[in-house]
Formats: sequence, C-alpha cells, structure tokens
Amino acid sequence: MSSDTISVTAARNGLRGTICVPGDKSISHRVAILGTMAHGSMRVRNYLCSEDCINTLRAMQQLGAKVTPGDAPQDFTLTGTGMKPQAPQHDIDCGNSGTGMRLMAGMLAALPFDSRMYGDASLCSRPMKRIIDPLARMGADIRACGAKPGCAPLQILGKQLIPIHYDLPMASAQVKSAILLAGMMLDGTTSVHQPAITRDHTERLFEHFGIPCTTSADGLDVSVIGPVSPVAKDIIIPSDISSAAFWMVAGSVVPGSEICLQNVGLNPTRDAIIHVLRRMGADIDISNRVDVGEPYGDIVVRYSSELHGTTVEQHEIPNLIDEIPVLAVAAAFAKGETHIRNAAELRVKESDRIATTVNNLRAMGAQVQEFEDGMVITGGAPLHGATMDSFGDHRIAMGFLVAGLHAEGETTLLHCASINTSYPGFEEQMRSLIV
Ligand code: S3P
Repeated sequence: MSSDTISVTAARNGLRGTICVPGDKSISHRVAILGTMAHGSMRVRNYLCSEDCINTLRAMQQLGAKVTPGDAPQDFTLTGTGMKPQAPQHDIDCGNSGTGMRLMAGMLAALPFDSRMYGDASLCSRPMKRIIDPLARMGADIRACGAKPGCAPLQILGKQLIPIHYDLPMASAQVKSAILLAGMMLDGTTSVHQPAITRDHTERLFEHFGIPCTTSADGLDVSVIGPVSPVAKDIIIPSDISSAAFWMVAGSVVPGSEICLQNVGLNPTRDAIIHVLRRMGADIDISNRVDVGEPYGDIVVRYSSELHGTTVEQHEIPNLIDEIPVLAVAAAFAKGETHIRNAAELRVKESDRIATTVNNLRAMGAQVQEFEDGMVITGGAPLHGATMDSFGDHRIAMGFLVAGLHAEGETTLLHCASINTSYPGFEEQMRSLIV
C-alpha cells in the first residue's frame, strides 16, 4: 500500500535491480468482463490487484461471476455466467476507473436488467457522453445523473440493442471497447471507425475467447459479428508497460542505473513510449520476447548521458497517452525541446494532466510552455525538489516521484494513495531499486 505522503531524494548511486511490475490494467478489466460473459472456467494469472481492477472484479461477482482464489492474490479461477449475468443487488462502485465504468456501460446497456454505476469525485467529473451517445444510437437508455452534465453516476435501463456502425469522434479505446462489448451480444455486425489506432486489447481478447472480430488492414476499422458468447480459456496477463514506463524513465535519467523489468507487455499499440525514449537517446534493450496473443518480454534500461528532446508524432499520442506525465519528466532532463501536442485528451484523464504536469514541472524549476493540446518542454537544466500535489492522480504522483530521484534536495508528493488504483507496491519497488 502506498502511504498518502511520499518523500524521496536523489538516488546518487543509481537505481539497480530486477523487478516485475504488476499486471496490465487495461487487460485485467477486459479479462474480468469477458470472463464473466464466458461459458466455463478459466485460470487467470497476474491479474492487476489494484483498486481499479478489484472494483471491476467485484462488480462482475455481483453479476454472477465466481472467483476461486489461487495461490497468490493475482492468480484465481474465474467462472463465467455463460452470457447470462444476473442483475446486481447493489449499485456498482467503479472507484476512480474511467475504463471500468465505460467498458461496463457497454456490457450492461445490452443486458436485460437495470443497473447503476458510481465512482469517486474524479470519475464523476469525467465525460461519459462519449459512451452514452453511441450506445444510445444502439437503443440504450443510459442516464447521466451526476451534478456535472454528462457525468456519472450512470443509471442504465437494460434494453434490446441493435448493431450500428460508429465513427469515433476521438481516438479512444474505451469508447471503441464499450461499443464492441455491446456489439458481441447483438444480432449482426457492429463496427467502429477510429481516427487513429488505439490499444487493441479488446480485439486480441475477442480472438482469445473465440469471438469473431475483424480489423481492417490500416487498423482503423474494427467489427464484431454477434451474437456470440466467449469460451473461457486460461490466460496470463503481462506486466503493465504503463507501470514499467516509470522505471524506463528513472533508469534513463539517474546516473549509474541499470534496471531489468520482467515480462512487460509489448503490444504494438502500447509501446510508443519505448520508441520515443529511444529516439531521445535512451538505452533500452528488449529480450526474451514472446509473441503470443499479447506479446511480452524483458526490458533492460541503462542510464543514458545523452538524452535529448524530440517531437512526439500525432499518431503516437494514443499509443502512449498514459505515459505522457512521466515522458514529460524525461523531457525535463533531456537537452533541448520536446514537443507534445495533439494531446487534448489528457485534459479529461484522472486529472487535467496537461495542467497538473506543467504545474509540477514548473514547481521543480523546469521550463515548460502550456498549450490547450499539450506542452513544449525545454530540458537539460537541473531540477530541484519541491512539495507537490498529486491532484488525486496516480500517474502524476508516480511521475513526479521519479523526477525526485534525480532532483536536488527533497521531493514530496501529497495525496499519493491514488497510486493504489494502478500500481500497488510502487513505493516498495522504488525503494528496493535505490542503491
Ligand atoms: C484505456 C484507454 C485509454 C487510457 C486508459 C485505459 C483502456 O483511455 O488512457 O488509461 O483500457 O481502454 P481512452 O480510451 O479514454 O483514450
């Protein structure tokens, strides 16, 4: 468990060691949902036991999924409902998780009972219209009951839906997945066009569970033909590349470092952080690559004295959207300018990540210009420690603790409990790496 206030000082002798970061968050949510719809039982290994994914698993248990514990908390047997989930007895708590709420909305909207989902203050301020609109076009009845228009809690009245084709107005894997999860239960073809390629875990899991799903050659059009029920099949969830990214940056910027990260997911729709860091001069090696449904491998990162700025291309943005706060930290240590634009989606994450990243970079003495859709960082000057807020955002907390590992003086992050939403054990792994 991460404590609420965490302080660090520079890791003067480097960061060294081999660690296994926890399981992938996006895949864990999807495994819980699809496993609940499935016929039969499956062993799940390396599920992410963070608050977000535990909330989704609890929600699925309310719908009738059975979870039989295994030898470790992250390993269990999941027995599905064979496409016949039961109505939940209580309102569903999604905690801090936009992914949990948006994906479950797709599933629940197509089921023959009513349900209600709620979340914390951050989640209740995030836009839900993006899933309500397409699902409403499919015939769903979802009411946003929050104080803020278009926001959670969501009241869902179960309806018989119809398949549609939907042009996504934004590159969002959550919206794509909500539509596809509803679509797999419907009679006919449900298809989605995305303006840029987004993470394709839903599509890969559809294949894993035997659900017919096709993606166009350019990767932008995805369709599912239903109705079809998933068939349970054992699965091992790779470690989360978004969590590994903190150590890729820390290892690159802290002199004397060498960190090995084991079994990290290397899905090509998620790996832009590796390409961008390498382009900045980072020393990152990949070995023991396994190319199964979700590719994974070991990553070794060593300190690089030659980090320099880069421009993140527009098509790379969805592929590293969650890594941008820590990438901005890398940019602050890299010589020259790093341009991160076309990333307005960051403003509707767990915090307004453009504002919170810029705010904290400036607090540490970095030079950064804020734009409506991103930031330009002029890096290379030393950073100094500061006391900063995490703004209830796990990735801001972890990103700026990483900055503190190479800053003058002490760095303190407030309200770090949010780290438990995605990376329980972060603080312990950080301390274990400090030489
Ligand atoms: C996710 C998609 C992304 C990402 C989020 C997880 C997913 O969100 O930021 O952390 O699992 O589908 P958007 O779909 O809003 O881009």
